[in-house]
Amino acid sequence: MSTYFLTGARIGIRPFESSDIGPRYLAWLNDPDVNRYSGRRFRPSSLLAAERYLASIGNDAEILAVCLLDSGTHIGNIKYGPIDWFNGCAEVEILLGDKSQWGKGYAREAIQLITRHLFITLGLHRIEGKTANPAFAAAVKGLGWSLEGVLRDRFRGEDGYLDYQLYSLLANEFKESRPSERKRRK
Ligand SMILES: CC(C)(COP(=O)(O)OP(=O)(O)OC[C@H]1O[C@@H](n2cnc3c(N)ncnc32)[C@H](O)[C@@H]1OP(=O)(O)O)[C@@H](O)C(=O)NCCC(=O)NCCS
Repeated sequence: MSTYFLTGARIGIRPFESSDIGPRYLAWLNDPDVNRYSGRRFRPSSLLAAERYLASIGNDAEILAVCLLDSGTHIGNIKYGPIDWFNGCAEVEILLGDKSQWGKGYAREAIQLITRHLFITLGLHRIEGKTANPAFAAAVKGLGWSLEGVLRDRFRGEDGYLDYQLYSLLANEFKESRPSERKRRK
């Protein structure tokens, strides 16, 4: 039986456990490259803070581990929620801490798996994500998400203020397979 909650072509997604919180995970959270677009970048991350964060995730949100199917290696996390059940809406965030795995389409695959779960399994109507990170923007654009707003100077970056870009996808826009995803699988 699969140990994964969601399984794609190269990625497995499973619950993020307190046993995942260790030196490797903390190194991700304290890495300036990983945190370039994170509100956490001015604060050191500790074991205690990471455990408190995990414990603070309520019933209407999930934080999940993104793993490589072939080796089982944990390369980052994806989070959704808290779900606004009345409006059928949730925000999605992703952090791939293992920088050696960037640029291989793993974020796109993980986001697509979560998108399917949120729309097909949970029946949500809309998902959204906002960031100053152009790589996140490129990943979701390739999955058909729309840029629907810009939050001007919302983020203080290394070299000055950056805009947040707000992307969203509606349930009726979801497609199981996108051309960019098929390209990655080859
Ligand atoms: C954002 C992040 C999840 C992307 O992960 P990834 O696995 O490298 O993403 P993918 O390979 O699926 O897609 C990245 C896309 O961004 C593009 N990209 C990468 N750097 C870019 C940049 N500086 N400017 C524009 N596009 C960029 C890639 O070319 C790729 O697009 P393409 O496939 O159309 O060529 C990863 O960099 C990360 O975890 N960063 C730290 C945490 C973070 O900032 N999260 C976003 C906030 S929710």
